[in-house]
Amino acid sequence: MPPDSSSLPLPQLDCGVARLRSWRPDDLDSLVANASHADVSRGLRDRFPYPYTGDDGRAWLARAVDEADRAWAIELDGAAVGGVSLHPGIDVHRHSAELGYWLGRRYWGRGLMTAIIGAFAPRAMATFRLHRLYATVYANNPASMRVLEKAGFEREGVQKSAVVKRGELLDIVVYARVRASLETGA
Ligand SMILES: CC(C)(COP(=O)(O)OP(=O)(O)OC[C@H]1O[C@@H](n2cnc3c(N)ncnc32)[C@H](O)[C@@H]1OP(=O)(O)O)[C@@H](O)C(=O)NCCC(=O)NCCS
Repeated sequence: MPPDSSSLPLPQLDCGVARLRSWRPDDLDSLVANASHADVSRGLRDRFPYPYTGDDGRAWLARAVDEADRAWAIELDGAAVGGVSLHPGIDVHRHSAELGYWLGRRYWGRGLMTAIIGAFAPRAMATFRLHRLYATVYANNPASMRVLEKAGFEREGVQKSAVVKRGELLDIVVYARVRASLETGA
């Protein structure tokens, strides 16, 4: 049974161009259709498989439904066509979280992710009391860097030769939005 998402801190968010909401088991077909393009996984971590099968989709949904306060589906015209996720830090990093996002290939280049991240980032920082929201982008992914710049993230620096993706050694570019002051009791 999917959890009652209405009790979650950020159960859904209207981003104007699309809606963020919890993943549901019946998103499987749309998830697989949108995730199975090679270019989608190119910008993401190795654990986002290519080719993307029905089993991959089922495994993801089984987890995402349980992690509904960290993973949101991007819903467009009633279908889940992409995702946004938060990976919160622990201990001294507890006010920091990494941001992840992807969109089905056919929806690229319409300004959708810029609008989605622009709406999500400030809401997530306020809701989860984050002082730092950051993203790590492969150096061969200029579209993702552009999204972050347009959504108010600052380019902080480059981690040289940080990852191997599909046999290619890549630099990583770090982008972040930060709040400089600590709340009392944090
Ligand atoms: C990265 C991604 C999320 C972008 O989503 P999107 O909705 O197409 O992004 P937008 O349309 O809002 O903005 C894309 C921007 O990148 C620019 N862009 C696209 N390809 C580019 C390229 N090769 N070089 C430079 N800029 C490029 C676009 O022109 C646009 O900028 P503009 O509005 O100033 O013209 C989408 O391509 C995706 O899901 N990729 C696969 C997963 C991924 O890489 N996720 C991010 C991991 S860090």
